[in-house]
Amino acid sequence: GDEDDWDSRPPVVTVMGHVDHGKTKLLDALRHTNVVAKEAGGITQHIGAYQIVTELDGVERPITFIDTPGHESFTAMRARGAKVTDIVVLVVAADDGVMPQTVEALNHAQAAQVPIVVAVNKVDKEGANPAKIRQQLTEYGLVAEEYGGETMFVDVSATTRQGLEELEAAVLLTADASLDLRANTEQDPQGVVIEGKLDKGRGPVATVLVQRGTLRQGDSIVAGDAYGRVRSLLDEHGNKLKEALPARPVQVVGLTSVPRAGDTFLVVEEDRTARQIADRRQARIRNAQNASARKRISLEDLD
Ligand code: GTP
Ligand code: NA
Ligand code: MG
Repeated sequence: GDEDDWDSRPPVVTVMGHVDHGKTKLLDALRHTNVVAKEAGGITQHIGAYQIVTELDGVERPITFIDTPGHESFTAMRARGAKVTDIVVLVVAADDGVMPQTVEALNHAQAAQVPIVVAVNKVDKEGANPAKIRQQLTEYGLVAEEYGGETMFVDVSATTRQGLEELEAAVLLTADASLDLRANTEQDPQGVVIEGKLDKGRGPVATVLVQRGTLRQGDSIVAGDAYGRVRSLLDEHGNKLKEALPARPVQVVGLTSVPRAGDTFLVVEEDRTARQIADRRQARIRNAQNASARKRISLEDLD
């Protein structure tokens, strides 16, 4: 489209790290710094993706955060080639140190050439040793700025809220220093599914991240092999939205089945087209499954 259609968009930040190092609690703490969240005050839904509005040098700046909890959406998305994140916040508990999933997470980020900000969490705890974390991570090529390297490390506590503003600032500074965050709001809407679930009351619900264009209520959408008309768009507070701009995570209600993490979605002109695309994809999946079932059977025959 037109040069004018390219607008700056918020950075999309994935929070990764070893189990129980405090990813979710840190995100909870960050969300409470958010004026918008306070105003909405509604029931927060766990969708694993949130946009907060922060302030840097007096300017309001939104940041989109994606949690990677027990479910392996990030790994699934990576495995399926979906590029979702601009920055990884690597959470390392200061009392526990670098652990296997810490290394796995930083390997993922480095392989995808995604800049890393290290949040050294739980600095409130007895036995916390933030200097040791910095030391340990140099072995993996993450050298703290104060040691002459290029990686921003921030000491934080999700419990006492120490360092949260510094962490937000580190994310924005990293974004400004190394990324060109623009998106075209006028293109055909596209994006990626972060998670899908079957809700008792609302049926299939997909949390999607819009990556380009503007997703609107009423749009005909194909997500993986699911399709449907967007009946409602909900933000992380359960508030209805009329539209979702790039980097906005949003829940989509109205699909006929549940898409999977890492599926891409697109918007088409007509419901019929959405259905045809979804049908073709379902047929492809069935064929692949049949083929692999046949292969299994013939391998078993050999035994
Ligand atoms: P998984 O999603 O299971 O991988 O865990 P997680 O990384 O999201 O950790 P979670 O936020 O669930 O926190 C794990 C535990 O650490 C909880 O009991 C938290 O209350 C605690 N915790 C998290 N952050 C802090 C912190 O800054 N200080 C202290 N003292 N405890 C913390
Ligand atoms: Na946990
Ligand atoms: Mg968690």
